[in-house]
Amino acid sequence: MTTTLITGGTVVTATGRSKADVLIDGETIVAVLEPGSRLLGTDLPASVDRVIDATGKYVIPGGIDAHTHMELPFGGTAASDTFETGTRAAAWGGTTTIIDFAVQTYGQRVFDGLATWHQKAAGNCAIDYAFHQIIGDVNADSLQAMDGLLAEGVSSFKLFMAYPGVFYSDDAQILRAMQKSADTGLITMMHAENGPAIDVLVEQLLAQGKTDPYYHGVARAWQMEEEATHRAIMIANLTGAPLYVVHVSARQAVEQLAAARDNGQNVFGETCPQYLYLSLEENLGAPGFEGAKWVCSTPLRSRAEGHQDHMWQSLRTNDIQMVSTDHCPFCMKGQKDLGLGNFSKIPNGIGSVEHRMDLLYQGVVNGRITLERWVEITSTTPARMFGLYGKKGVIQPGADGDIVIYDPNGHTSIGYEKTHHMNMDHSAWEGYEIDGHVDTVLSRGKVVIDHNEYLGAKGDGQFVKRGLSQYLI
Ligand code: URP
Ligand code: ZN
Ligand code: ZN
Ligand code: ZN
Repeated sequence: MTTTLITGGTVVTATGRSKADVLIDGETIVAVLEPGSRLLGTDLPASVDRVIDATGKYVIPGGIDAHTHMELPFGGTAASDTFETGTRAAAWGGTTTIIDFAVQTYGQRVFDGLATWHQKAAGNCAIDYAFHQIIGDVNADSLQAMDGLLAEGVSSFKLFMAYPGVFYSDDAQILRAMQKSADTGLITMMHAENGPAIDVLVEQLLAQGKTDPYYHGVARAWQMEEEATHRAIMIANLTGAPLYVVHVSARQAVEQLAAARDNGQNVFGETCPQYLYLSLEENLGAPGFEGAKWVCSTPLRSRAEGHQDHMWQSLRTNDIQMVSTDHCPFCMKGQKDLGLGNFSKIPNGIGSVEHRMDLLYQGVVNGRITLERWVEITSTTPARMFGLYGKKGVIQPGADGDIVIYDPNGHTSIGYEKTHHMNMDHSAWEGYEIDGHVDTVLSRGKVVIDHNEYLGAKGDGQFVKRGLSQYLI
């Protein structure tokens, strides 16, 4: 087993920062030491195999992206990153664990859907991975199957109030699934948009000849997100289900979440980098068909309405608890272009798994969040929320050796000339400049990114069984 000592860096956790050395034995962190104290320690190895000098850099727990869709079949095509390409790109960007969504499709049995996801991922991942379960068909059989999810290491499931005819659940199905959530402790994750109403707006816009990507954002109005968020909160209130609303983009939806939390409910919200930086006007409204790059649901919101600034503020106040990517990449050629002349046929999703740590670090540089909050919203809270904490999300003895050495004096230019590693023919983030750089990434003690070199391999990443949430009140 290799022993590794990371020296001279500033260890940053959700609760503070200090100069410390980190000792990793094999796959596991065994000590966090005052600088130089290893010379005095008796139970520490006399020598280490490898010393990594982190002087002037931050040493943080590896990023956890709790919302990805590798190889997701969607809109007549499939997300363009495989588990192999997507997890490698994640590693490049300082993410050492993903939680992807296994899918039960309509008419399928839950455990058959889960087995399919295991087949896609097993032996292919560069970093550790876990699963949430999409329940695309709430019925007596799937409700019973949900009793067995925790034993499989799956402690959360996602329902959709959007996408009628695909993943959609009606209110009766949501009520039954949330009763199961309250019984089992599994977190209900909700895609909160009023799908049936949105579909009418889509039809009407198309009939008026409004077919450009911009109208995707018009059809999926914030009122439809606020309404669905409120409805989900109320059904959760009635049933006692813990509720986690995914990809929150509208400030009015955040206000619903904040009010429910003020009321003592176990209600949480996630946002994504695209809702912090990008907008309806500048991105979805780009000339011609370019806006298709940014078609995702919930949609990018109007900057004039102030959603983006409000979302940053919500991260400060903990009205929004964490940031995931909702990584769901599609190429422009052959995928996004299915929606030329009809925005509703553009496959929904943006690829960001490689850039989340950098994009949120820029929030530190810009004075939006603290360094500690950066670690909290990208690693520690995801670990606690989804039952990984202790092994993941923290630098302490006994935790997995998942560590990122981040250089605040480095620089990262995102997206030019295919400098990213995601399997996409474009970048949703081209032109973004980050005043920082992912220098070194360790995944369970193995250096997988060494400056600008990838040293990992497919199959390094293991399936991680999750326990119940450690975040509930
Ligand atoms: O546009 C998105 N979000 N695509 C992925 C599927 C989902 O709803 O999360
Ligand atoms: Zn969704
Ligand atoms: Zn998603
Ligand atoms: Zn470097």
